[in-house]
Amino acid sequence: MDQLDRTVPEGRLVARRTVLEMGCGLVGLGLLAACADDDRATLPGPTPTTWTAPAEPLRFPEGFVWGSATSAFQVEGSTTADGRGVSIWDTFAAQPGRIDDGSTGDPAADQYRRWESDLDLMVDLGLQAYRFSVAWPRVVPAGSGEVNQKGIDHYRRLVDGLLDRGLHPAITLYHWDLPQPLQDAGGWAVRDTVDRFAEYAAVMFEALRDVDATWLTINEPKTTAMVGYAGTEHAPAIGDLDAGLAAVHHQLLAHGKAVEAFRAVGGQGSIGIALNLMPVYGAPGAEAAASRLDAAENRLYLDPLLRGEYPDEAIGSAAGQLNADRAAFDALVLPGDLAAISAPCDLLAVQYYGVAGIDKNGTWLEVFPPSPASWQQVHAEGLYEMLVRLTDDYADLPPLIISENGIPDPDAQGQIEDPQREEFLRTHLQQAARAVAEGVDLRQYYAWSFLDNFEWARGMTQRWGIVHVDYETQRRTPKASAQWYSGVVKANAVAPV
Ligand code: FCB
Repeated sequence: MDQLDRTVPEGRLVARRTVLEMGCGLVGLGLLAACADDDRATLPGPTPTTWTAPAEPLRFPEGFVWGSATSAFQVEGSTTADGRGVSIWDTFAAQPGRIDDGSTGDPAADQYRRWESDLDLMVDLGLQAYRFSVAWPRVVPAGSGEVNQKGIDHYRRLVDGLLDRGLHPAITLYHWDLPQPLQDAGGWAVRDTVDRFAEYAAVMFEALRDVDATWLTINEPKTTAMVGYAGTEHAPAIGDLDAGLAAVHHQLLAHGKAVEAFRAVGGQGSIGIALNLMPVYGAPGAEAAASRLDAAENRLYLDPLLRGEYPDEAIGSAAGQLNADRAAFDALVLPGDLAAISAPCDLLAVQYYGVAGIDKNGTWLEVFPPSPASWQQVHAEGLYEMLVRLTDDYADLPPLIISENGIPDPDAQGQIEDPQREEFLRTHLQQAARAVAEGVDLRQYYAWSFLDNFEWARGMTQRWGIVHVDYETQRRTPKASAQWYSGVVKANAVAPV
């Protein structure tokens, strides 16, 4: 499979995950260039390097934190327990045809009920930290107004369970499960949601004020904006790029207001946002398009957060840009917004899955073979490039963490023997260690995911866990990669093959 066109006939852009997931399916619709393996040799790639992993293990700094990650909707199940409200993902998953296998958030990996044995398993594997997310509709069921103490109690127990076991909590406040009543009022496309998020965040900061946690405000604002609002493959499936861009600004502002609330509460621990970033490679002659796509995919998020300004290049009608009305976007940005968005954070969380390629016409290219998730072009060295680039380009960069990194199993059943995942994790950790050796301040790493789980539109058909879940019995079995990862954690180093 090769060339993936990013435009639809009206000239509107659709989100990367949407287009890339559909992949060659769009060829059948006449929207994409032909898929042919032979073309790969003619496609561009990054500048080749001469780096090879050294024969001795690559060490991570003393105190480096190793964990694995999940999110509430993907693992919890129990979607009506203890007063939980309805989220946009409950609504979306219930609509016929939205999820490949028709699955919903229930029971997922049943972690709402099985959290204690899951934490025990983390201890058995020698992990040091767990990144999970709080379901906003458990804590504020209607999205605003009444707080549900039972929801807070659940997360307090989970956090205490982690601390009792010597595990560090990394807590994401928003991993895509917006309370449905807020969506009914416009969701992330409207400014009101910003304040509702800040109120909910303050409730959680207060409830866990004494805990030395890593807090992540928003998970991948790009995916929500581009796949859920500009596109239709994720909830709430709006399909309007202007709404998508409004969702970008409002999520970033919500992050800024949450940081403000965190400082006001005087919470312990550290706080930042989680961005999915990817190097963009241009075909010969496509340098300008690549720079514009980089602005749309990376700098649209990084620059406001770290420089207090939106990049000029991201929005427009040239190849690589988001083809929307720049004036409409600018009108959303009120005085004070960029100062709030760029308030200093304690960390920046990078989620790294792969890279993108583009030609001079704005056609997305496949420059590396994808994983079984067709949107994921695997290139470990891109992680090194991104970490170094962040360090070089942003003078006020806070310490970095990698909050997600992983690949799915080759088939829907999942593999206990998963050499592909071991190879993926090893090569990416080598590149992370290489960046650290060159001065990148990287503090934590979370493999995605701890468990096989509900992978959004792919449902239960795509398994990303280092631990296999038998969905009939909910039995957990660590995969070979989990055992291997356990060795990395113990050694605080990644060995060559
Ligand atoms: C990321 C999401 C995470 C999971 C992985 C595979 O974009 O944050 O929930 O779906 O992709």
